[in-house]
Amino acid sequence: MKHVFIRIYQNIFGLVWRNFPLRQPKAVTGEGAFFKIPEIVKSAGKSHPLIVTGSRMAGSEDFKKMAAELPTYTLFSNVEHDPSIATALAIARAYDENRCDCYIAIGGGSYLDAAKAASAQAARPGKSLYSLTGTMKVLKKTPFFVAVPTTAGTGSEATVASVVLDERTGRKLTINDPVLMPDVAVLDPALTLTLPPHLTAETGMDALTHAIEAYLNIPYRTKKTASLCREAVKEIFANLPKAYADGADIETRSAMLLASFKAGKAFTVACVGYVHAIAHAIGAKYHLTHGRTIAIVLPKVLAAYGQSAEKSLAELARYCDIARGQDAECAKRFIAHIRNINRSMGIPETIAELKESDFADIARAAAKEAVPLYPTPVIFSQAELFDILRSLL
Ligand SMILES: [Fe+2]
Repeated sequence: MKHVFIRIYQNIFGLVWRNFPLRQPKAVTGEGAFFKIPEIVKSAGKSHPLIVTGSRMAGSEDFKKMAAELPTYTLFSNVEHDPSIATALAIARAYDENRCDCYIAIGGGSYLDAAKAASAQAARPGKSLYSLTGTMKVLKKTPFFVAVPTTAGTGSEATVASVVLDERTGRKLTINDPVLMPDVAVLDPALTLTLPPHLTAETGMDALTHAIEAYLNIPYRTKKTASLCREAVKEIFANLPKAYADGADIETRSAMLLASFKAGKAFTVACVGYVHAIAHAIGAKYHLTHGRTIAIVLPKVLAAYGQSAEKSLAELARYCDIARGQDAECAKRFIAHIRNINRSMGIPETIAELKESDFADIARAAAKEAVPLYPTPVIFSQAELFDILRSLL
């Protein structure tokens, strides 16, 4: 009976959320787009960005060439791979102390999410950042924000979310609010050329998961998000193995970056599902990277959804020319295709750090993230979550 109420909540929320007039980031794309950042800043009437990026990027010749065209800027580089709320607060402090007037975040999801969380604090200076976690708690305009992804994976440049670690509890918290949508996404494939194969693989599987999970969430799905998901899945299947094998191919990198952007646009409306809920819980427990954990969990959760996901997975399989025929067979082939891609990129099928004694904690955290917000094909019981975790041992 409880499930009936959860489904009613999801359908009502979906009805409102699907029709919400969500602002879209302006995409500046193509090789060399990175050097248009000073022009983007100036045409927005801004003059002093806080640039949040890693020290390797900040020391590069390309960065120096781009930054030389800015009137002035302040740099913040100290972001860990799971950015904490304390880090977001330090970024917000640097923004205030240096009287910055906009954000430029350059990097993988950690840099983009940390800067997005800081921008939430800038919009609500009187509130604790902890109290802004959850859904629609910021509700006030954030500073002008330029997102520059250097991986094709998180899609954070196209989402209203920021995932940050609560360093007090070790849990990952999400700030979900339309005001966190970046104003501009700079998608320059040249920035992803040097990404090593294992990171290309893991971040690419994260983008694939965004597209698949958003497609499976029928109550929040729109025609537009469904079509973005189908396109993203097809483009990732076609390009990820190539990007893994030859990272220097700019066409392949460009296709991956655009697919990741499409997946981001889709899941910011249609949400993710248990792959993310479980991977977030496992990742926070053992300090594992997001993309790798997601890649391992993805085929296990899809298989556990069983019949409830067959129709949607079969549609994706047919769209990607992976299979033809009955739904059950197509869905099976689709999941097998994911396993094969994982295997070909050296991603294992299990998580070495996972311990049975932690199952209760992980299942609790995963259920808390997924229910009632994610309209997944199945609402898993604790026993079903334990079965999925057991399959990861
Ligand atoms: Fe993700």
